[in-house]
Amino acid sequence: MSSGLMVALDMDESEEAVQLAAEIGPSVAALKVGSQLFTRYGPELVHRITGSGGCVFLDLKYHDIPNTVAKAVKGAAEMGVSWLTVHASGGAEMIRAAREAAGDARILAVTVLTSLDKQAISQIGWDGEVRDQVVNLAAMAREAGADGIVCSALEVKHLRSVLDDRCVLVTPGIRPAGASIDDQARVATPESAVADGADYLVVGRPIVNAPDRKEAVRLILEEMKLGDVHRERD
Ligand code: C5P
Repeated sequence: MSSGLMVALDMDESEEAVQLAAEIGPSVAALKVGSQLFTRYGPELVHRITGSGGCVFLDLKYHDIPNTVAKAVKGAAEMGVSWLTVHASGGAEMIRAAREAAGDARILAVTVLTSLDKQAISQIGWDGEVRDQVVNLAAMAREAGADGIVCSALEVKHLRSVLDDRCVLVTPGIRPAGASIDDQARVATPESAVADGADYLVVGRPIVNAPDRKEAVRLILEEMKLGDVHRERD
């Protein structure tokens, strides 16, 4: 399987998001609607994107009691989204409830946010290595039924060695060489993330803030192809 690009539509204006979705939708694996857009425009925006053929990844990172998450996931699935996220730290029962409610939508469990570095993680009270934390959360989430895991590209290689082959690995924190890392901490280039075994890369600002967004998508897809050649996963 070759890798796919998921573009984070992190912007304030719905018209701009719908237009970008229409322009790049056919060449990418999914259009990610996160809390920035969804809080302003809600299900109507999701319907506009799916209505024009776009595949939507609803990234609201649910983290609540199992019953509440299940009800929210059911609502998301009814909107026609293809992917959605929960926080793995919500626990196995919550993830199980999400999977049961998701129907055809795929559940991705977020392990440790890619914006957190070692110091930030110890401030939350998580001791030890980031990688161990990611592995524990990922293994528990997969066991509880998550279809895939969201992690940093720096952790992909190791996760591949502990998780089954069918588990989808999705990596944000992607920066083409030389791009600003913004608030991300654990970053990698598109080529190395793919070569290490990521299935889908999530990219926001390097595309959204580019002077020519379509060209930025094209260049990232080119870089990903280079990684596909060295990919350790078929
Ligand atoms: O702009 P940038 O490429 O950093 O955007 C990354 C996107 O991925 C954002 O929409 C962010 O919410 C999301 N994300 C992340 N780290 C995670 C999970 C999701 O950065 N662990």
